[in-house]
Amino acid sequence: MGIDMLMAAGHEVDVNPDDRVLTKEELVRALSAKPYDAVLSLLTDPIDAATFDAAPQVRIFSNYAVGFNNIDLTEAKKRGVMITNTPGVLTHTVAEHAIGLMLSLTSRITEGDRFMRAGKYDGWAPMLLLGTDLRDKTFGLLGAGRIGYDAALMAKNGFGMHIAYYDVKRSPELEAATGAHFHESPEALLRASDVVSVHVPLLDTTRHLINRERLAMMKPTAYLINTSRGPVVDEAALVEALKNKTIMGAGLDVFEDEPRMAPGLAECENAVLTPHIASSTVETRDEMARVAAQAIIDALAGKEPQNLVKA
Ligand code: DGY
Repeated sequence: MGIDMLMAAGHEVDVNPDDRVLTKEELVRALSAKPYDAVLSLLTDPIDAATFDAAPQVRIFSNYAVGFNNIDLTEAKKRGVMITNTPGVLTHTVAEHAIGLMLSLTSRITEGDRFMRAGKYDGWAPMLLLGTDLRDKTFGLLGAGRIGYDAALMAKNGFGMHIAYYDVKRSPELEAATGAHFHESPEALLRASDVVSVHVPLLDTTRHLINRERLAMMKPTAYLINTSRGPVVDEAALVEALKNKTIMGAGLDVFEDEPRMAPGLAECENAVLTPHIASSTVETRDEMARVAAQAIIDALAGKEPQNLVKA
């Protein structure tokens, strides 16, 4: 869809011919091969000084993601290059995935699936794979932006959960919609929640926001869900917490050093792991492509594109 839009607007489009992400060297080589005017980048493309140097004529990098931690915004600003992202169109989809990870853990769906496929089911038993009810439990949001807001609505309206949150600023909108209780610190939220769902951007201030000390503050019956960015969680500390049962379980769609996982994580039965697919639905991928292509079309037509990201 995005490619068709760009071509319909009269632009020539080159597409990475390989069905895989480029290495940094390949990216730099590809960008220096031609005087491109615009780049539709992926969250796996490091857009830093070397990338900007390879493509000095590029006017816009339109990032096919809501997250933009792959882009050096200071360098972009210095060079007057526009950066855009795709917020809004993936909100509901990522929130649904966060809820899916929570349900997989609390109803032990993926564990049950593995159990069946391994031929371990030899008959109904009252205590087999006991899960946890969600009704009246506390769904704690770490970050109350668009995705957190949607996940909170689903948790409250779908499952009768109470909503709590921590954010650097209060959200009267979230409080009005869900009766959410604001906590003054991440620590207070972690202590109070039965499920902690992480929805913060990756910044210097949020790197390892969930670390060993903070994991130890969570209830031993609590679950951690992360659909934001891997480095927000100290993955080695999480593996330790999952093994020692410091917390009950974790649902992760993002990893600290993708596509790798911390040693030991794959062996944790109390973890549900998905490969950074929280926004991967047909509808949302189409919308992301449309929004990312439109930003390029607008920028090259001399208009200010929507969703400009500022340093
Ligand atoms: C984003 O858009 O930042 C998501 O991580 C993509 O799935």
